[in-house]
Amino acid sequence: MAEPALRVTAIGIGYLGLTHAVCMADLGHQVLAIDVDQDKVAKAAQGEVPFFEPGLEALLRKNLDAGRLRLTSSFAEVGAFGAVHFLCVGTPQAPDGRADLSYLHAAADALAPHLAAPCLVAGKSTVPVGTARAVAQRIRAAAPAGAAAELAWNPEFLREGHAVADTLRPDRLVFGVSSARAEALLRQVYAEPLAAGVASLTMDLETAELVKVAANAFLATKISFINAMADACAAAGADVARLAEALGYDERIGRRFLAPGLGFGGGCLPKDIRAFRATALELGVPSVAGLLGEVDAINESRRALVAAMAREEAGGSLAGKRVAVLGAAFKPNSDDIRDSPSLDVCARLTRQGAVVTVHDPAALAKAAQAQPQLRYASSVTEAASGAELVLHLTDWPDYQALDPGALAAVVARPVLIDARCSLDAALWHAAGWSVRVPGRPGLG
Ligand SMILES: NC(=O)c1ccc[n+]([C@@H]2O[C@H](COP(=O)([O-])OP(=O)(O)OC[C@H]3O[C@@H](n4cnc5c(N)ncnc54)[C@H](O)[C@@H]3O)[C@@H](O)[C@H]2O)c1
Repeated sequence: MAEPALRVTAIGIGYLGLTHAVCMADLGHQVLAIDVDQDKVAKAAQGEVPFFEPGLEALLRKNLDAGRLRLTSSFAEVGAFGAVHFLCVGTPQAPDGRADLSYLHAAADALAPHLAAPCLVAGKSTVPVGTARAVAQRIRAAAPAGAAAELAWNPEFLREGHAVADTLRPDRLVFGVSSARAEALLRQVYAEPLAAGVASLTMDLETAELVKVAANAFLATKISFINAMADACAAAGADVARLAEALGYDERIGRRFLAPGLGFGGGCLPKDIRAFRATALELGVPSVAGLLGEVDAINESRRALVAAMAREEAGGSLAGKRVAVLGAAFKPNSDDIRDSPSLDVCARLTRQGAVVTVHDPAALAKAAQAQPQLRYASSVTEAASGAELVLHLTDWPDYQALDPGALAAVVARPVLIDARCSLDAALWHAAGWSVRVPGRPGLG
């Protein structure tokens, strides 16, 4: 590392915070991480990652062993330790759709009284525009260092499933700052990726906060756009998979995030667009509020559409029908089930009397805890045995490698709904399956 190592802290060690703490240590910094969840602190200190994230556990152990990363439960220790403190706590959705900032405020309030020396507090959580300035005031008022405890916003763009690579080599770094000193400190933190050519953009606090929510709003809009096109295809007897493929060749549009199907879920996109919509209404920006309301409504409608398709394929009633579901996580390569479209569909089917058995390569334990009324199977064959309907709801690469012929032999009826529009429909059809895909003509 060209620049000297810094003393860095991570406050909150969930998906974002633990990844950030580990990667900062791996960049050579001395890192101290804290969480109010003592179980998470104890597990991380033992080298255990309490969620599925490829590559993270090995890197955690490496940096614990190297003595660059430590865990604590003491805010006094954190406050005294860090030159840069990263706020990584959750900002979940409140019942009214806004962001619940109580964790962020609690973290700032716990940290501030221990900031006696000049330092930088850098927010990484996703927040409504205006939050950073309010948190800055809160910290300045309570910190013994006063204005020398400065605030910056450095939003995070990592994707679960690719979190390590995204943190070590992000597409870009966004520095929302109020001073040259704050920018210099962030440049020192990220000296290694910057030297490797990662782009950085320095801006005011408000623009940095908005960059993050605007990025998520755009991605969500792209997904809902192609799903609206799936509705048009269904009405016109056209094929949304071919449409998306053809659109994707246009480099102004691009192929990514143009996958039709069950739509988005997880701990970020849904709550972030709802929070942004609420902010837009408060700020008097009807264009953003209207757009995001429609994006959200199109996305939500996918779940009802797939459940209705299942009922139709079951002959009009799901009562007592055995349904196998492939995938429980909100997306592949993750065990995150927050606002999982798959589990939402499962709940809809169960309410109609279906007997649902779910398979997932990584998320079974979390799913079983959240939805104990469902049955769970540790293999696809076990889930599919005796099923009258198979639903593909999370796009794990494992499911691309399934043998449709072998599965046809264990189900009661070979009927597949590929709600992720990603399995090889012709291959499944050739193996004897009737295949339904939202927005595509049916096969068989
Ligand atoms: N998960 C992602 O892919 C991702 C990507 C980019 C941005 N973000 C944003 O990052 C933030 C965190 O998301 P996450 O997915 O890591 O959430 P998470 O729920 O996995 O983790 C949040 C952690 O904060 C801890 N916490 C709560 N209050 C605390 C306090 N007062 N002091 C210390 N720790 C506290 C919780 O115990 C928890 O471990 C959110 O704003 C989210 O929108 C997440």
